[in-house]
Amino acid sequence: MKKMNYRYFLGIFAGLILLTMSCKKSNTSGGSLYTPTTTDVTATATLGELQQGRTLYINNCNSCHGLYSPDNYTSAQWKSIISNMGPRTGMSSSEILLVTKYVTRGK
Ligand code: HEC
Repeated sequence: MKKMNYRYFLGIFAGLILLTMSCKKSNTSGGSLYTPTTTDVTATATLGELQQGRTLYINNCNSCHGLYSPDNYTSAQWKSIISNMGPRTGMSSSEILLVTKYVTRGK
C-alpha cells in the first residue's frame, strides 16, 4: 500500500513538471522578439517607433495567447492579422500602427 502511494505521487509530480515545461514552450521567449537596432530602421519606421512598437506589442498582445514571433508571418499576413487583433486590445489606432511597424519590421 505504501509503495503504491509513492508511485502515485511520483506520477503526479512528473506530470506537473511536464505541464510546466509545455506551458513555457507555448509562450514565445523574449529571444525571438528582436530588439530593434539602427539596422532595422526603414523609410517608414524610425528606431523610436520600432522600440515603442515592441513595448506595446509585449504589453498588449499576450493577454489571450503567447507572443508570436515577428518572423512567423509575412508583412502582408501581419497586416491582416493586426486588423483582426488590434481592435481586441485597448490600443488606439496610432498605437496599433506602431505594433504593425514592429512586427512587419517596417515593411
Ligand atoms: C481578446 C483576446 C486577444 C487579444 C487581446 C489578442 N489576440 Fe491574437 N488571437 C486571439 C484568438 C482567440 C486567436 C485565435 C484565432 C482567432 O480567433 O482569430 C488569436 C490568434 C492570433 C494570431 C494567430 C493568427 C493565425 O492566423 O495564425 C496572431 C499572430 C495573433 N493572434 C496576434 C495578436 C496580436 C499582434 C495582438 C495584439 C495587437 C493580439 N493577437 C491580441 C485573441 C486575442
